[in-house]
Amino acid sequence: MSRFPKDFLWGGATAANQCEGAWNVDGRGPALTDVTTGGTVSEPRYITYIDKDGNPGKYSRMGGRLPEGAKYAVLDGYHYPNHEGIDFYHHYKEDIALFAEMGFTTFRMSISWSRLFPNGDEETPNQKGIEFYRDVFKELRKHNIEPLVTIWHFDTPLYLEEHYGGWKNRKLIEFYDRFAETCFREFKGLVKYWLTFNEINNTVMFLNMFGNKASDEMYQSGYQQLHHQFVASAHAVKKAHEIDPENIVGCMICGITFYPGTCDPKDILLNRHTWEQGIYYCGDVQCKGKYPTFANRLWAEHNVKLDITEQDLKDLAEGCVDMYTFSYYMSTVVTTHEIKDMVSGNFSAGARNEYLKYSDWGWATDADGLQYYLEMIYDRYEKPIMVVENGLGAIDKVEEDGSIHDPYRIDYFKVHVDAMAKAIENGVNLIGYTPWGCIDLVSAGTGEMRKRYGFIYVDMDDEGKGTMARSRKDSFYWYQKCIKSNGDDIA
Ligand code: BG6
Repeated sequence: MSRFPKDFLWGGATAANQCEGAWNVDGRGPALTDVTTGGTVSEPRYITYIDKDGNPGKYSRMGGRLPEGAKYAVLDGYHYPNHEGIDFYHHYKEDIALFAEMGFTTFRMSISWSRLFPNGDEETPNQKGIEFYRDVFKELRKHNIEPLVTIWHFDTPLYLEEHYGGWKNRKLIEFYDRFAETCFREFKGLVKYWLTFNEINNTVMFLNMFGNKASDEMYQSGYQQLHHQFVASAHAVKKAHEIDPENIVGCMICGITFYPGTCDPKDILLNRHTWEQGIYYCGDVQCKGKYPTFANRLWAEHNVKLDITEQDLKDLAEGCVDMYTFSYYMSTVVTTHEIKDMVSGNFSAGARNEYLKYSDWGWATDADGLQYYLEMIYDRYEKPIMVVENGLGAIDKVEEDGSIHDPYRIDYFKVHVDAMAKAIENGVNLIGYTPWGCIDLVSAGTGEMRKRYGFIYVDMDDEGKGTMARSRKDSFYWYQKCIKSNGDDIA
């Protein structure tokens, strides 16, 4: 008997802004990622603009803000990697054929909001955008691949950021409602699995890291934005069920396993509170339909006063998700004691864990942390779970003969697949696995191409040079074997 259920969904994951390219093609409007430059592990990505006097400028995406009166702009002399991505827009047939060759039974992708609604506040969608996604879904179905679709993956239309102030503004709920409803109606019968917001918890989880430098004002704004997204997500769940009772809608949480640095009871308590703030806060609202008791403590800590209406509370209660999905790359350590060796990765920071190995980007490989997370979360919500992102960002070398040997990636996946099997043995209802960046794409954190996650290599570099040709890495054949044996043959 296999360690994985018979219908387990095996696949891979991407996001529109990181792979589609074609940023201004067929009526698509810009998103914030289109005015974001490339960076590195030590150099932040910048957002570019023209200030009120007409001078070009940039601010760091990690903590900077648009100056008063400035307008976002694409400037000469900068490279914007998301403009081209890996040109999935024009290569999707070839890419889907490769996914099918690996044996995928599902494929996670997102819909670019500004491809459907270029500004975000239009009444009717851009038909070219609808056609593109319909074609992609049909192509997937042709290969018996079940689409798993993220509605929002970090790409609010730029116009909504500039003219409405983004998610701080309650109006965004209305625009998102229209966007989501359009997706459910237009793609009915083609898509059944939906995720409302990618890594919804990032907004406030990361404010707590990097030594509590965030101001109360930032918490106020972060929690209010989140509240608007919770309400929008709840509306989407209800609407999805109304339009097609077959629809299954999930939340998507950035899953990090937190450990206490010592057995000092103060560390144990801090660790519990870190789980509450970073992980449970969003999961509880989306899975249980109401704010948890500890939310009052979190708000009080930063003098947060939220605008929450009676109707919002009713909507949250009626819009609980059907499944819990999350990304998992690593664990981190929290402590009340002095941190001598700080590491950071996936926008997060914590003390170094001497028992773990770290990637070139400072991410800890910790498969036990995945098993721990799965068991904790299933115990809390008892809803079907999917791991919708997981993987190792690494530099790959193309040999003279074109082959790519990536044993480090295979090793990473082996232990994580094994961890999932163990969690299933312990009763977790895990229904699917979609490793991140199954085909190389632009890194969200650094904007690099050389931080590669794929089973499929894409010939494109950090300066935007390359042929976009696709080729199979050794891990391609490993994953093919893993899927074929339903996770049993991972040697
Ligand atoms: C998750 C995001 O945070 O991590 C993805 O949902 C992202 O969009 C992934 O790409 C990996 O992060 P990075 O920075 O290596 O691209």
